[in-house]
Amino acid sequence: MLYGEDGPLALYCLYGLHYRGFAEVDDDWEWEPSLLAVRRRLETALLARLREEAGGAVGDVGDVGDVGDALREVIACAGGRSLPRRLATTGTLDQFREYAMHRSLLQLIEADPHTWAIPRLTGAPKAALVEIQADEYGYGVERDMHQNLFAVTLRALELDARPGSYLDRLPGHAFATVNVPSLFGLHRRLRGALVGHLALFEMTSVEPMGAYAAALRRLGLAAGARHFFEVHVVADAHHRTVAVRDLAETLVAQDPVLAADVVFGALATTAVEGHCAEAILTAWDEGLSSLSGQPPAPR
Ligand SMILES: [Fe+2]
Ligand SMILES: [Fe+2]
Repeated sequence: MLYGEDGPLALYCLYGLHYRGFAEVDDDWEWEPSLLAVRRRLETALLARLREEAGGAVGDVGDVGDVGDALREVIACAGGRSLPRRLATTGTLDQFREYAMHRSLLQLIEADPHTWAIPRLTGAPKAALVEIQADEYGYGVERDMHQNLFAVTLRALELDARPGSYLDRLPGHAFATVNVPSLFGLHRRLRGALVGHLALFEMTSVEPMGAYAAALRRLGLAAGARHFFEVHVVADAHHRTVAVRDLAETLVAQDPVLAADVVFGALATTAVEGHCAEAILTAWDEGLSSLSGQPPAPR
């Protein structure tokens, strides 16, 4: 297993202390030095793995030229099979539920990892990030927060929408998809990589979101279940421009040395998302569940 099983889960739990914490776990553990030391070791290993994979994908990212062109190049070179296309064409309802359980790790805290960057930016890139985040948080309307829209989808699929409900069912590569933005978000020195993560997501969102909505329509789910995806088809058509032109490019104009990290963040995101999608598709190809243990039971 590329990222292992115990390491990603342990790192996910350590990061959880910086978000909402855990029931019956004292909040003081967030800054406990012995836990921070463990976190440091796990992060060092994860970063080394990500840099290895990013280097292997496009060679030296030290001289990236125009960062917008470099990000588009990352996407053009990504390859890999399409999970949304599979779900839109032949996926079953149980497979969509499995996909939603995987995504629940990140979508139920959607936008939160990127918010860490706001106080770390200044000027134009900060304004661009706030513009995107305001939309992600529903412009202050709780019902419209994207993380809440995904909870609506989970409930429509008869799944538990409380964060962390499926930790014992998910494999290591699923935890890697959310650990990466948490890692980038919690370290100021990795703010360029966090911008690369966000830019990659916004640039590659519209078509997959449309495919997921199409899958739910084909499977007979009501409009409420599709709303999260349909909102993103519209929102991310705008966010992708803001993320590249107004965020990534202005950040690099301010601080050219961050260009390589922006591209690294996009490459790392492509790698972890690709591994997760491929593992899910491989399990389905073999007629298996992509989860551990028993099939998901309706709530
Ligand atoms: Fe969103
Ligand atoms: Fe977005």
